[in-house]
Amino acid sequence: MGIAGLGTVGASVVRLLGDKTDHLSKRSGRDVAVTAVCARDRGRDRGVSLDGLSWHDDPVALAESDGIDLFVELMGGEGDPAAAAVSTALRRGRPVVTANKALLAARGTELARLAEENGTTIGFEAAVAGGIPIVKTMREAMAGNRVERVYGILNGTCNYILTRMEEEGLSFADCLAEAQRLGYAEADPTFDIEGHDSAHKLALLSSLAFGVTTDFDSIHLEGIASITTEDLKAAAELGYRIKLLGVARRTDTGIEQRVTPTMMPRNLALANVDGVLNAVAVDGDEVGEITMVGPGAGGSATASAVVADIVDIARGRCLPVFGIPAAELEPYRRARMRKH
Ligand code: HSE
Repeated sequence: MGIAGLGTVGASVVRLLGDKTDHLSKRSGRDVAVTAVCARDRGRDRGVSLDGLSWHDDPVALAESDGIDLFVELMGGEGDPAAAAVSTALRRGRPVVTANKALLAARGTELARLAEENGTTIGFEAAVAGGIPIVKTMREAMAGNRVERVYGILNGTCNYILTRMEEEGLSFADCLAEAQRLGYAEADPTFDIEGHDSAHKLALLSSLAFGVTTDFDSIHLEGIASITTEDLKAAAELGYRIKLLGVARRTDTGIEQRVTPTMMPRNLALANVDGVLNAVAVDGDEVGEITMVGPGAGGSATASAVVADIVDIARGRCLPVFGIPAAELEPYRRARMRKH
C-alpha cells in the first residue's frame, strides 16, 4: 500500500503496521505492508523507520503508481492535492482509506459514486470520531434499523478545551495550545474551535444514518470560540456543563443538522464525557439508543481506525461507502429550522 501524508496520524499508522505486521497479516489472510509514502519533508524525524520505502513527492503520482494496491490518504484538506489523489486512485479501481472528513463532507457523494462505478470503495472509519468504530457500527451492525437521530461530541480538541477550562480554570488559548501539542487539533485549529470539524463529521453521520447525500452546507454551525471560563462556571452553578454537540435528526420537513455549544444537565452520561473523548449516540427503531464513547483524536486512536479499514480491504471486503449504493442516496432535504 501507499500512504500519502506522514503527520501525526500517518506516522502512527506506519508505526502500528510495523509493530503488528504478523498480527495484521493473520487477521487479513495476506501480507499487509507499506511499500511507498509521500510527504512534503523527507528529512523530518517522525519517530518511525521509513527505511526501504519508496518516496514520492507528488500524491497523485503515488495514487496512480503501479507499485500499490491500496491508497491511504492522510494529508487532509478538502481541495487538491488530496481530492485529486483520491479521485485518481478511485478511477484506477484502487481502494482508498482516508481520515479526511473535510474532503468527504464536501465531496463524499461524488467520490462514493466514483468508487462504486470503478468497482472499489472508500474506508473512512478514521474520519468520524477518531478511534470510535461508529462508521462500521452504523453501516453494518445497524443495517436493520431506521435511524431517527444521531448526535454527540464529535471534536476532541473542543471537548479537551472545555474540560480543561472548566476543571483547571485555564485560559482558552492555553488549552488550545495543549491540544495542539498533544496532536489533537487540525493543522488549522480554527476548523476545530469554530465547529467546522464537528460539522464535517456530522455530514458523514447523516449520510450513514439517513441514506442521504452528504450536505455540509446545510449544517447550522456555532463553535466554542466565544465561551469563557465564566460561562462554564455559571453553567456549573446551575447544574449544567457546556459541550459542543452535533445533532442530526429526521423531522417532518426533512433532515435537521446542527453543531452548537449546548448546556447539558450534569446527570446525563454525555455531559460527563471529558477531555479528548468523543461520544456518539444513535437512535435505531429496532435496537433503541446505542452510545459509544472513546478517544476522538490523537495518533494511535486514529491509526487504530485507519488500520481497521486497511484490514477490511486486505480481506477483500468492498462495501458501499455509505452503506447503500451511492446512486441510491436520496437528495438531502433540509428541515425547516426550529428556533432554539
Ligand atoms: N481535530 C480533530 C479533533 C481530530 O480534535 O477531534 C480528529 O478528527
